[in-house]
Amino acid sequence: MRIPVPPSSEITPPESFLRRRLLLAGGATLGGIGGPALATPLPSTRAAAWSIDDKPTPFSTMTSYGNFYEFGPDKDSPAKHAHRLRIRPWTLTVDGAVKTEKTFAIDDLLKWAPLEERIYRFRCVEGWGAVVPWIGFPFAELLKRVEITGNAKYVEFWSLADPGQMPYVRVPLLDWPYVEALRLDEAKHPLTLLAVGMYGEVMPKQNGAPLRLIVPWKYGFKGAKSIVRVRFVEKQPATAWTKAAPDEYGFYSNVNPDVPHKRWSQSHERRLGEFRKRPTLPFNGYAEQVAGLYAGMDLRQNF
Ligand code: MTE
Repeated sequence: MRIPVPPSSEITPPESFLRRRLLLAGGATLGGIGGPALATPLPSTRAAAWSIDDKPTPFSTMTSYGNFYEFGPDKDSPAKHAHRLRIRPWTLTVDGAVKTEKTFAIDDLLKWAPLEERIYRFRCVEGWGAVVPWIGFPFAELLKRVEITGNAKYVEFWSLADPGQMPYVRVPLLDWPYVEALRLDEAKHPLTLLAVGMYGEVMPKQNGAPLRLIVPWKYGFKGAKSIVRVRFVEKQPATAWTKAAPDEYGFYSNVNPDVPHKRWSQSHERRLGEFRKRPTLPFNGYAEQVAGLYAGMDLRQNF
């Protein structure tokens, strides 16, 4: 299946500077190519109040086109190489500004809260969009299991960075591990999901199994995949992308049609599988729910 993508005259994806870095680093070699992963059903209850009515992007599209730079710089790298990821045993460590550091086994964490299916808009900073039925539970559920201290103002999400499983972690494409972060109130917002599945299935490896973050009003790169650590911190942290290109990727990264990326406009987007362009919505269509989090802030300054 060929997926239409905007012509390169319209966008210059992060991929292009990643490529330059890759060349500078002397390239990397990858081992075997995997076949399609077998899907495992994951029951959940549709949360209609948190879902949009739009038709989801095909599963085959969302699993074959994406970004997971630990597995390579191309859109099909995750689908080709993420089969190397070992998702059991898997633990999530919660530390930093907490009374007691805790480590949870993924299978225990899966029982924390009823799993919900939520159909969210998804917007990649590169100019493509999608509609995805994620399965998961609000990040706020985690806060019931740990006691944070008064110093906890921000939350970092750390992806696994194991060169044995993730060949491109040997290449300085980004400052590994992939770390993303939110302000505590953003993390606590009921739209913020810890996702463990999509399309009725256990999360495919290429989409960030076994646990990833979904923040639907922000650009997709905020949604760290294959998370192993959540750290509460006092100061606004640097993230993989703010370190890589601080003038192109801001800490907030709220979807905003009025604030162009340094190298391309964000006014429109193309949903994967569609040819027409759609206007990009402020906060990706979630303004009613989240605009209040940013009251009084200059969103051009805090992009
Ligand atoms: N998480 C990790 N660990 N590594 C990555 O390269 N890419 C991000 C985000 N999370 C990325 C990541 C980007 S740029 C996007 S657009 C989304 O994952 C893509 O998610 P998808 O492949 O499920 O569409």
